[in-house]
Amino acid sequence: MLSHDIIIVGGGLAGLRAAVGLCEKYNVALLSKVHPIRSHSIAAQGGINASLANHPDAKDDSWEKHTFDTVKGSDYLADQHAVEIMCRQAPLIVYEMEHWGCPFSRFPDGSIAQRPFGGAGYPRTCYSADITGHVLLNTLYERAVSKGVKVYSEWYVIALVTDNGQCHGVIAFDLINGAIVPMKSKVTVFATGGYGRVYQYSTNALINTGSGIGIAYMAGVPVKDMEFVQFHPTGLIGTNILMTEACRGEGGYLINNKNERFMERYAPKMMELAPRDIVSRSIQTEIDEGRGFEHPLGRYIKLDIRHLGAQKILEKLPGIRNICIDFLGIDPIKEPIPIMPCQHYSMGGIDTNEKAATEVKGFYAAGECACVSVHGANRLGGNSLLDTIVFGKLSAIAIDEFLQENNITPDEKPINNKLVHMEDTIKKIVQNKGERPFSIHADLSKNMSTNVGIFRKKDELETAIENILRIKARYKDVRVSSSDPHMNYELLNAIELGYMIEVAHTIAIGAYLREESRGSHSRRDFPTRDDEKWLKHTIARPGADGNPEISFKDVTITRYQPMERKY
Ligand code: FUM
Repeated sequence: MLSHDIIIVGGGLAGLRAAVGLCEKYNVALLSKVHPIRSHSIAAQGGINASLANHPDAKDDSWEKHTFDTVKGSDYLADQHAVEIMCRQAPLIVYEMEHWGCPFSRFPDGSIAQRPFGGAGYPRTCYSADITGHVLLNTLYERAVSKGVKVYSEWYVIALVTDNGQCHGVIAFDLINGAIVPMKSKVTVFATGGYGRVYQYSTNALINTGSGIGIAYMAGVPVKDMEFVQFHPTGLIGTNILMTEACRGEGGYLINNKNERFMERYAPKMMELAPRDIVSRSIQTEIDEGRGFEHPLGRYIKLDIRHLGAQKILEKLPGIRNICIDFLGIDPIKEPIPIMPCQHYSMGGIDTNEKAATEVKGFYAAGECACVSVHGANRLGGNSLLDTIVFGKLSAIAIDEFLQENNITPDEKPINNKLVHMEDTIKKIVQNKGERPFSIHADLSKNMSTNVGIFRKKDELETAIENILRIKARYKDVRVSSSDPHMNYELLNAIELGYMIEVAHTIAIGAYLREESRGSHSRRDFPTRDDEKWLKHTIARPGADGNPEISFKDVTITRYQPMERKY
């Protein structure tokens, strides 16, 4: 059995920042499904929010204003004490990343450049052209390597070991050697990212299965606010690759088939820079009401950045231009970009507090897989990179305190029991005679996009849940074409699919029960926000019958009483 003081699962920004904060004092292992610099954080484009007040139009910006924008953007579901912590930390962590070598774009005076982003009262999104995630991730990875963090690349965690309210370690699948490996630790941190691939149309990488959230949930760790799914307004049609909000932050327009900048109807003040939930619903409404465009790859709206001019596009949005040319043969300097809203982010996730701690002793979570909650019902663009680094850092501080105050000895017995259970699970998959994972996954993701999408309704949500139950039954007999565990991606897909189905179930049940519209959760049959009944977090745990068992938890309100959101 492998043994470390701390196991961190996930090689993206949250995991790396936690590792950097802990590795000098503790024996830390970082497990990553892929090489860390292929983690999904690399795909973040537009930027990271911090009230640096560098932009000429943001001289009186402050962490308080950032906090207010975030709380309002969240449709008042975010826990305000946690938002305040994140927004106070933001300038500190941006300067820390700068000092560690992160090549941010600059204003002529040499200060870190900032651009406007959706739902923000000031231009406070720090960026590096349109590759902000790329530069942040490389900077943190170099830092982790220079400090000697032990990285297990292409190691998949397939189970979390909890017993008696304590976490004892994980069971990992070493893909290269085809080995199932028990690992014990005093502390385990999940920084496993989001679940985008539970949906058919997603800006997320293929690795974003949400298995981390599903693994924690199945180990008895509660998940929170799973019904809040963010749809990014501008995914490229066909591939659904992200067309960064920076396109609009730099001045891009959204245009329908009447050649109208239709956002005027939905958010007359902020127009294309309204928060994502509002812009996505507006685009979908235009498409649904026949004001979109037709393409063999789907119906779409035009994102027009031509008026920005070649020089600005080449300087600030070079990656966007390359993606459009490579994947659609369209040069955005000359033609508008065909876009549609796509699943992008999970506001919900593993229930944590502001120290990244869960209710299970020794188990922490940070980044997109966690729900603190700092994003509530709708995340503002640029707050995700911020969340990953802030709560990666704060988890390290909290874990250090925890280990100083507690004498933890992981118990090998539950780890060995779980190892046997996972070996049996794999044996069964290899012997099964049913369907292969891809067809079940295709039906699951289609069901979610069709029935638990941008707009939701009781009968569609009932259909979604019935479909999930049928899919669960089919999954029991999932089979793979090769029994060789060595580099067997299909076997991994089959294991992960089980967790994806559980994640989908918590999303659909949460959406079905929440009879109001708030942030990203938009019910056609309950079109208004209902603070009296629904100003509360949804908590899901696996019930004895296999269905999610739902309870509720209060939202922390400190400075800002809920108001109507107008943009
Ligand atoms: O549009 C974007 O660049 C995405 C940013 C984010 O999700 O925060």
